[in-house]
Amino acid sequence: MIAISKPVTGPEEIAAMSKVFDSGWLGLGATVQEFEEALKAYLGAKHVVAVNTGTSAIHLALAALKLKPGDEVIVPSITFGACVQSILQAGGTPVFAESRAEDLLLDVDDVERKLTSRTKAVMPVHYCGNPCDLERLRALGKAKGFVVVEDAAHALGSDYKGGKIGGTGKLVCFSFDPIKNITTGEGGAVATDDDALAEDMRRMRILGIDKETWRRYNNTRGYLYEITSDGFRYHMPNFCAAVGLVQMKKLPGFVARRREIAKRYDAAFKGLPGLMTLTVDYATVAPHIYIVRVDAARREAHMEALKAKGVATGVHYIANHIQPYFKPFVRTPLPVADRLWQEIMTIPLHCGMTDADVETVIGAVKGLFARQAA
Ligand SMILES: Cc1ncc(COP(=O)(O)O)c(C=O)c1O
Repeated sequence: MIAISKPVTGPEEIAAMSKVFDSGWLGLGATVQEFEEALKAYLGAKHVVAVNTGTSAIHLALAALKLKPGDEVIVPSITFGACVQSILQAGGTPVFAESRAEDLLLDVDDVERKLTSRTKAVMPVHYCGNPCDLERLRALGKAKGFVVVEDAAHALGSDYKGGKIGGTGKLVCFSFDPIKNITTGEGGAVATDDDALAEDMRRMRILGIDKETWRRYNNTRGYLYEITSDGFRYHMPNFCAAVGLVQMKKLPGFVARRREIAKRYDAAFKGLPGLMTLTVDYATVAPHIYIVRVDAARREAHMEALKAKGVATGVHYIANHIQPYFKPFVRTPLPVADRLWQEIMTIPLHCGMTDADVETVIGAVKGLFARQAA
């Protein structure tokens, strides 16, 4: 079975991790700082705060905004549940917005309709690595007084207006979970151009303990510390950062391979009856997953047929407004999301795929849709 996603690691990652284990300092320390510096340089970011998951990154970013009860955060319904849980954990009220059918990106027109005096943040998700319209959102945020908190879990390596996603922006959240564009095993980071937010997040990622940087980055265990705010146990450990440092060196190659596969899919699937590709510019996007849209009534059958051909498929993601726990927050109908999530089907895209795997996927998809049309 060709998997939808898969981590690509080798002996280099194990050797790097092994060195950390030999050092005896597994937790937050100098290797994490080195990883943050590598990310900063790659993204062109002012600050990077590394944490233990992408979900922690999103929660930490929102927690740094110090939301008050009733404060609203607009989020696309079609995204990973981590976004919505993080809003709730940060004390905010999620407000679900529609996504655009052509690329699954947050519909900014719908955001405008859903803005209220209580809107404190809007969370665009750079779906499949494809950047949302940040220029418009940031201008809107300035005018209306909300912060743009980017979910860039899919978008490490994507370009935006000549720079990298994460190179600019107040709060840009990445994930390095096992299947992301790079992995640290599990991990995440928030990039920010805001000095005060960076300082807050550094303290809050480790239980609100102040002055952690100079004490801990020296790999010496200071016994004196001060707790000056609320905080979480979200820091990235050194052994994960060691994996991340190796993966960062591989990232340009990973991005190139992902682009190559996505472009081959786009070319092969163009014009297939019953299948729609998303509108993505692979010259600038580092594709994380490859999603096609199909007839909702036939999606399950398509998934079964592809499985029979050895091609795994998935759904990224079920709309959150239909999740039982999130239903109380649904204020308006979301007809686009209702339809769209039932049409989406993810097919394999990862750097462990051989050219033969890519051809197998293309052959299976083309065969299926040509047959469906007949
Ligand atoms: C869009 C999106 N947001 C957030 C996350 C959360 O990241 P993590 O799995 O590292 O907690 C993911 C991970 O799958 C994701 O795809």
